[in-house]
This record gives sequence, structure tokens and C-alpha cells, in this order.
Amino acid sequence: MATTLEKRTPPWPLGFYRSAIGKKWIMAITGLAIILFVLAHMVGNWKIFLPEVDGIPDIDVYAEALRQLLVPFAPEHVVLWLLRTGLIIAFLLHIHAAYALTLMNRRARPDEYQGPRNYLAANYASRTMRWSGTIFGAFLLFHLADLTWGIQPAAPETWERGEVYANFVATFSRAPVTIFYVVAMVLLGLHLYHGAWSMFQSLGINHPRFNAARKVFAVGLAVLVTVGNAIMPLAVLFGLVG
Ligand code: HEM
Repeated sequence: MATTLEKRTPPWPLGFYRSAIGKKWIMAITGLAIILFVLAHMVGNWKIFLPEVDGIPDIDVYAEALRQLLVPFAPEHVVLWLLRTGLIIAFLLHIHAAYALTLMNRRARPDEYQGPRNYLAANYASRTMRWSGTIFGAFLLFHLADLTWGIQPAAPETWERGEVYANFVATFSRAPVTIFYVVAMVLLGLHLYHGAWSMFQSLGINHPRFNAARKVFAVGLAVLVTVGNAIMPLAVLFGLVG
């Protein structure tokens, strides 16, 4: 009896997630959610280039508005925390699915019908995704310690909660930090390029007719995110902001 129960198929979402295609779908959907966050975060941060509002830096006004989202319909900080929770879940699922797929691929025997060239290309791409993803994860921890949590030595000595503009200028006035951010954004661009390309594959949108459009989308997204983010630390370092 116990053995029969153990062998029972798990409920739909779990059973689907156990398959390789289920994991690829989760990677694609969570990847899409993370990309949307990265784009919104980047556009929000561009406020660093805007003038002050009533003597307060525009980006500080914006950060406060994020904390006040939907107030008085919801208590302060609640909507922001819901968004943060969604983002954390997306990151955890994305990393778990990537790890589980790697294990599955390792266990699987090579497909006899695939030529050696395809096989090498697939391995090269997934290897690149693994290390660019891992280094980006390390960057993200540094980034949170630097600008959100104010933990030194990642954060500048003058870090103060809520002083987004001042913290921004202080951190990127340090050349090694700016260089680290720019390198991380290049890695993120590489990761997004391959991720955006394979996202369509995972979702079944892979007709050769769309390949040119997929390429334009993947390259465009990678360049936009890399350049759009890197200009901010560089603008501070070169004295254009601050
Ligand atoms: C050069 C690029 C970037 C700059 C200048 C930047 C800037 C900032 C700033 C100023 C904050 C603090 C906001 C506050 O205290 O209210 C922040 C928080 C954050 N950043 Fe970035 N960021 C960059 C890239 C990224 C990327 C690529 C990610 C990718 C996931 C990311 C994820 C986050 C997260 C998760 C937070 C915490 C948000 C929160 O808890 O409310 N950032 N960033």
C-alpha cells in the first residue's frame, strides 16, 4: 500500500515542474519577471539625472513614493514588500530550476542524433549561463549590502537610510566600485542575451521564421540593459552627476 502511494503521480504543478520542460517554463517565466523588474528598476534609477523637486533629489522622492505605494488603501511598505516577495520567489525558482536542469542534463545520456558541433554549442552556452549567473548573484549581494542595507565595506562610510541620491553619489565616486558594477552589467547583458533567446525556445516560439526577430530582441535587450545601467555609475565617476 505504502509503495503504491509513493509511486503516485504528484499534483499537476509539481508533476509538471519535475519534467525538464516544466523547469524550462519556470526558467522562462521567472526570467521574464526578473527582466521586467530590471527594466523598471533601471528606468526608475534614471531619475538620478533629473533636477531636485523642492530641494529634494528626484530619486529620493521616487524611493519614498515606492514605500507609500497604494497608501491609504494599503498600509505603508506593504505593496513594496509584496513586490519584493514576488521578486525573491522568482529569483529562488530561477536558480533552483537552473540547478535542477544542470543535474538532469548531466545524468542524461548524449543524444545520438545530435552532431558533436551542436552538442558543444549547447554546453558552451549553458556553461556561460552558469558562471555569468553565479557572478551576477555575487554582484547582487554586494549591491544590496552597498545601497540597500548599508553594510561596510560594500557601502560607503557616509551611507544613510533613505538618502538614495547621496548614497548613490558616494558609492560610485569610488572607481573600483564603478568598475565592478560596469563589469557586472556586461555579464548581465551576456546572460540576458542568451536567456532572452532561449526563453522563446522554452515557450515553444521557435519557428525559423521568427529567428531574425528573436535575435534583434535578444541583442536589443542585452544592449539596453547593459548600457542603460552602466551609464549611471560612470556618470557619477566622471562628475556628470553629484
Ligand atoms: C548600475 C546599475 C544599478 C544601479 C545604479 C542600481 C541602483 C540601486 C539603488 C540606488 C537601490 C537602493 C534603492 C533604495 O534604497 O530605495 C537599489 C536597490 C536594489 N537593486 Fe539596484 N541598481 C542597479 C542594478 C541592479 C540590477 C541589475 C538588479 C537586478 C536584479 C538590481 C536589484 C536591486 C534590488 C533587488 C534592490 C532592492 C530593492 C528594494 O529592496 O526595494 N539592481 N538599486
